[in-house]
Amino acid sequence: MSALVDHRLVGVIGSPIAHSLSPILHRAAFASLGLTWQSQAFDIDESNIDAALVAMSTLAIAGLSVTMPLKQLVAQRVDVLSDVARDLDAVNCLTRLADGRLEGHNTDGAGFVDALQVAAPDSIRGRLVVVLGAGGAARAVIRAVAQAGAGEVVVINRTASSAATAALLAPNVGRVGVAADISTADLVVQATSAGMGSADQACDPSLLRAGQVVAELIYHPATTGFMAAASAAGCQVVGGLGMLVHQGVHAIERWTGMRPDPVAMELAGRRELSTR
Ligand code: ATR
Repeated sequence: MSALVDHRLVGVIGSPIAHSLSPILHRAAFASLGLTWQSQAFDIDESNIDAALVAMSTLAIAGLSVTMPLKQLVAQRVDVLSDVARDLDAVNCLTRLADGRLEGHNTDGAGFVDALQVAAPDSIRGRLVVVLGAGGAARAVIRAVAQAGAGEVVVINRTASSAATAALLAPNVGRVGVAADISTADLVVQATSAGMGSADQACDPSLLRAGQVVAELIYHPATTGFMAAASAAGCQVVGGLGMLVHQGVHAIERWTGMRPDPVAMELAGRRELSTR
């Protein structure tokens, strides 16, 4: 009887990986679908990524989430690369196709747009979106909000040259901005790593205005200093866990062909974070 049970394996690769929420989100997703698939974290860095990709094929691992520091390296090594992963030069979702080839895709931007659709509908289409940051996470958001119909996508970054490159991911609607643009935005996305384990802030919160939507991509701590300041300014604040959950929803869909329950996944993620 047990031979009929489908125990296929997925996982997450990166380093450090011990605290990754991905296996917890994957397991909650499988439970919501009634699947007995398993998920495991694998500590893989630049030195053993090639061996890990061979292992994925050999062991018939169905899918892997990819995180720091591997997203770009994996994009250079897969057999098939989706358009979004090619534009971003970053893979966060690896799928073993039926013919054994490895496909690299990026679900971060779609995850962000879906999370906003739940938490703050109507905050992207036709809106003025300011993105703080121009790194991997910011680039995914810039491309995705442009594709989702943002009226204008304004990129503000500490290093101006990367802001200009990132703004190209929003053809026709993207440009490099200045601090004053923050005050006129409909949606402000905090996509820098400032505030992750430090008191640094990507912008002066006094530039925020009541009624704006402010989305933070950091999910731990659950409330960053920037989120607290935005709440105090009267903004509608959206935390980063939703994006993580929804990029995972897209990954699970690619691996299983079924859409898991984001609410169950978010609950599992929140429960785990509350213990840290
Ligand atoms: P991620 O993959 O999380 O996006 P990343 O690609 O390393 O990480 O990008 C980090 C982003 O946070 C960059 O936009 C970085 O700005 P620079 O391009 O100038 O390096 C931004 N960042 C990091 N620390 C910051 C700080 N203390 N203040 C402002 N921006 C910061």
